[in-house]
Amino acid sequence: MKLNIALLPGDGIGPEVIGQAVKSVDAVCRKFGHEVSYHFAYAGACAIDRFGDAFPEVTYRTCLEADAVLFGAVGDPKYDNDPTAPVRPEQGLLAMRKQLGLYANLRPVETFKSLVHKSPLKEELVDGADFLCIRELTGGMYFGEKGRLDGGDTAYDTNIYHRFEIERILRQAFEFARRRRRHLTVVDKANVLESSRLWRQIAQEMAPQYPDITTDYMYVDNAAMKLITGPKFFDVIVTENTFGDILTDEASVVSGSMGLLASASIGEKTGVYEPIHGSYPQAAGKNIANPLAAILSAAMMFEYAFGLMDEGRAIRNAVSASIENNIVTEDLAGSGQVFSTSEVGDWVASHIESNGIIR
Ligand code: IPM
Ligand code: MN
Repeated sequence: MKLNIALLPGDGIGPEVIGQAVKSVDAVCRKFGHEVSYHFAYAGACAIDRFGDAFPEVTYRTCLEADAVLFGAVGDPKYDNDPTAPVRPEQGLLAMRKQLGLYANLRPVETFKSLVHKSPLKEELVDGADFLCIRELTGGMYFGEKGRLDGGDTAYDTNIYHRFEIERILRQAFEFARRRRRHLTVVDKANVLESSRLWRQIAQEMAPQYPDITTDYMYVDNAAMKLITGPKFFDVIVTENTFGDILTDEASVVSGSMGLLASASIGEKTGVYEPIHGSYPQAAGKNIANPLAAILSAAMMFEYAFGLMDEGRAIRNAVSASIENNIVTEDLAGSGQVFSTSEVGDWVASHIESNGIIR
């Protein structure tokens, strides 16, 4: 197969971790006989520096013409404490989501046996937890009308959702639940918010079309608690943009390290595959960041963008092997030997090439 991949490494540790993901993609392509081409583009602070725009038109076109986008991270501390900055790196991410119509953000949370002791939660609570958060990504407060009144002393954001936006994300959620353990939890705040009442109304309309799936409804405050008191309860969680942003950061601690969590954003145009950890500027350029989330994002890319499940599995197996053999960066090393970003990337790539597929 010919794979046409847009590479948007972005800022901070983005370029380093995407560099390791590319090694794994290359290894998979050599092993399985695929032909890959990469198309580099700027996004985030590096794009502002160069083009004055965090998601320039040329980057959009590169994404549009690709089969999949491998994305690193955006963000630079020089913008963080300046609420008046006219352009911000994060706007690049939001523009990309909106322009590519990436309405479904998939963030799977799994635990690795050898790492459960790393979780700040009790081992018996997290061991075996395995769920998928599906966050609506192009609606709600992030994109609703916002502004200032009273000469700037009053501010508002609008949490607006249209029926078609809710229906399409719920449909994805029911379909994903069908391919997993058939349990869907719809998270909202329907006791207070009108937009949440519409979500719940539409979910209740659709649920009878999926009689094989157990659908339940949970208020977001209760879900926040349940995620850390009983994460094994969940199989698929679906929720709106802002709730999903908050809950997925919370969910990431279940696995023991944010450095392990990959994501896929899919929708109308080219899908984007990215680690959820952000640009981690303190570590940029030091060759210390954990590349496994970026590498696992490449696995998601093979599975979701190309339907190449064996290729995805080959990457996952190599990542598991690196963890089991303690070939890990400092965030996971504990008192053991610390490997650099590129050493972990090299190890995973060579494991992919030299090993059979273990099913
Ligand atoms: C995320 C991030 C982004 C978001 C920021 C960087 C705009 O936190 O992908 O979760 O809030 O969606
Ligand atoms: Mn977030």
